[in-house]
Amino acid sequence: MNAKQAAGYRAAELVRDGMIVGLGTGSTAYYAIEKIGQRVAEGLQIRAIATSNASEELAESYGIPLVPASEIHRLDLAIDGADEVDPGMALIKGGGGALLREKLVAMHSDRFIVIADSGKMVSQLGQFKLPIEVVPFSYEWTLGQLQRRYDVDFEMRTRDGELYVTDNGNYIVDAAFGKIESPAQLSHELKMITGVVDHGLFVDIADMVIVGYDDGATEVIE
Ligand code: A5P
Repeated sequence: MNAKQAAGYRAAELVRDGMIVGLGTGSTAYYAIEKIGQRVAEGLQIRAIATSNASEELAESYGIPLVPASEIHRLDLAIDGADEVDPGMALIKGGGGALLREKLVAMHSDRFIVIADSGKMVSQLGQFKLPIEVVPFSYEWTLGQLQRRYDVDFEMRTRDGELYVTDNGNYIVDAAFGKIESPAQLSHELKMITGVVDHGLFVDIADMVIVGYDDGATEVIE
């Protein structure tokens, strides 16, 4: 068992009959979805909301019943990975580009469980480039606003030589902050910039972090 699998499987044990569960995105969330799928095959009765098209397909392949977000007011539990986790459980997410749905699902869940291999634990956020989701219309203006405001490198995310398009039809700017002194303040500032839809800083959202280690051990932080 590897570190991501250990964390993902441990989180999947928190799922109970009758729950509405948010399914995260990425290589760690993959394992949580796999384990939940196995438990559904054994009789676990849940409904789920996926945070990306990829996770939706994965959940369907495991026979996990999905429900449209519009039919749900609140989720019981959401399980998702992270790119960085600081000692206060603030996160950088969005390496896979799914940050907007991930944040919506996390914020509407009674409990948000982060699953991460130990390499994701950092003393300060910012080494991982912060993803910022922007609307395509006049994205150059939004990029210019960001560049004027912060003296760091910003890069439009691309895939196969084209601008990367999120599941919501937006673009991603990756910002190399290096060190983020106040995640809460930066989170607030970025949300105030017109053209920014959301960003990958998750502050005061996580309720628990399950850290996985290479030997298969896990540690729970709450
Ligand atoms: C997806 O957009 C992300 O927020 C992922 O949850 C994050 O990038 C962690 O991914 P891995 O589990 O693949 O490292």
